[in-house]
Amino acid sequence: MTIHIGASPDQIAETVLMPGDPLRAKWAAETFLDGTEQVNNVRGMLGFTGRYKGNRVTIQGSGMGMPSLSIYANELIRDYGAKTLIRIGSCGGMQDHVAIRDVIVAMTASSVTTPSSTIFREINFAPCADWSLLHGAVNASKARNVKTHVGGIYSSDVFYDERPDLSEQMTRHGILGVEMEAAELYNLAARHQVRALAILTVSDHLLTGEALPAADRERSFGDMVEIALEAAFA
Ligand code: HPA
Repeated sequence: MTIHIGASPDQIAETVLMPGDPLRAKWAAETFLDGTEQVNNVRGMLGFTGRYKGNRVTIQGSGMGMPSLSIYANELIRDYGAKTLIRIGSCGGMQDHVAIRDVIVAMTASSVTTPSSTIFREINFAPCADWSLLHGAVNASKARNVKTHVGGIYSSDVFYDERPDLSEQMTRHGILGVEMEAAELYNLAARHQVRALAILTVSDHLLTGEALPAADRERSFGDMVEIALEAAFA
């Protein structure tokens, strides 16, 4: 047990998928895993462990934003020995060629600040994905015919952004989408020498103002969960 995760040490797998939304953790575990057991409900941040094609996997909600993700990722890595952490989430599209429902595999994650900024001090550390996971995710998305983009994303500290000029600069520099967690996940993975990747479904679009209807979210989310599971065990 840790402060935020009620599981016993043996109830958490070495491979962890992390959606922001705890109810998506429940849906993904019930839909894709066998022999699923609920392993966390502290603060309603649900976590489940089961098997995918015989491999043990935990699906643990991370909450929204880097400080929340950092709490769960730190405890999963330091206290439970997690070795592979894959964020599965949504993002806002930032390029014309990136459409609603497309999947983005985040090679890097730019940010204004992260919870690690204070320890990096004057260094602009470049948070980047684990290559083997990235490669596995691209192969899995090709096999499923899911339209997938690979490149940089932007991890923002705000959803309601009072500085649209910042995302304009990101768009000018080819950043594919904006979300709120990946940069710190990549920082923590580097610090603890574990594998991390963020796979994102484009749920809304900053340039067009479109948003994915609620009914379509589940289907797109399912593609992403399968890509993550295949990448983890490739
Ligand atoms: N901004 C930040 N995070 C997000 C967005 C967005 O537009 N869409 C999904 N996550």
